[in-house]
Amino acid sequence: MGVETARARVAASILDADLGNLAYAVGRAEREGVDRIHLDVMDGHFVPNLTFGAKTIKALRRRTRVPFDAHLMISEPGRYVDQFIDAGCDSITFHVEIDEPIEPTLRAIKAAGRAAGLAVRPGTPLAVLEPFRELLDIVLVMTVEPGFGGQSFQRSTAEMKVLAARQLLRHKVHGGEVHVDGGINRETAEIVGGLGADILVVGSALWLKGRDMAREIRLIRALADEGYQFTLNGGVPPIPRDKMVAFAHLPHHLAQVLEGEVRAGGIPVLRFRAGLAEDPSIAPDDELLIPATVERIAEERHAARRAELLAEGDAWKAAGRPLVGPPPPAPRPRPRPVRRRSAAT
Ligand code: DX5
Ligand code: ZN
Repeated sequence: MGVETARARVAASILDADLGNLAYAVGRAEREGVDRIHLDVMDGHFVPNLTFGAKTIKALRRRTRVPFDAHLMISEPGRYVDQFIDAGCDSITFHVEIDEPIEPTLRAIKAAGRAAGLAVRPGTPLAVLEPFRELLDIVLVMTVEPGFGGQSFQRSTAEMKVLAARQLLRHKVHGGEVHVDGGINRETAEIVGGLGADILVVGSALWLKGRDMAREIRLIRALADEGYQFTLNGGVPPIPRDKMVAFAHLPHHLAQVLEGEVRAGGIPVLRFRAGLAEDPSIAPDDELLIPATVERIAEERHAARRAELLAEGDAWKAAGRPLVGPPPPAPRPRPRPVRRRSAAT
């Protein structure tokens, strides 16, 4: 299955891969079709186990193009966050149950242009995330006690928190993600999919000896989407996460205006030249594309404005496409030729 048809995404936790050959492990995970690499960092203090740190992640970063999600199970994320940013993590998630201020670390992650997340142990109520919700791109729901791979999935924790975590991220029109971590496999994927999980973190189930990893990834994604379709979505197949749809077709200068307004509301936009016009002296219109998952919201918010700009575009064309925008810059004065003094004088 092409991932572009799916809603759910699989992040491979490399905790149970061959730690003696991690470069091979991430390369293999990529080839087998995983969507993300999930990096479990443990400090032997926040959890009773030690793994690897930013330096290892930085070395792995060069080995694959798959996005990196860091899951920091450490007591002092604030002290190390810059190292994880520098290592090339695309998202950084740390635990809310720490004894240091949370907000500065979330802000540092966001200032670096990475996605910021908070994780909760099974016993921690989601309500503790409430003060930080505006800063959150990711909520990571742990369905095992953090520290070790291969534990069994805590279904009641998932049922209590996963849907609620989606609610917590409702301010994110696009891009907010609920990650579910711990005990995910083909037996549990359908349950978490049916609770609206966006990213399924899968560790031991991918690395079992003799297992066909590619098939396992496809199965887990498909089961999660099945759960979503029949538990949450009234039998309607989920909208694929990467599908883009056309939103507007406007002259260049007006397309730029609409693009800015749609983006300002948190919806990503792609703008293309809409193909060559029949008359090559006429610049083609621009085409705006948006993610299909937010099409309804974009229509609600921006359809009226789009109609206004369309009418403006038609009037502009009818008027013979007069120049728009600031006048072109005046030509720069030519540099005076340097007169060389003749050597003879
Ligand atoms: C546990 C980690 C998880 C875990 C996933 O502390 O955060 O990422 O290792 O492994 P499985 O899928 O085996 O539970
Ligand atoms: Zn993890």
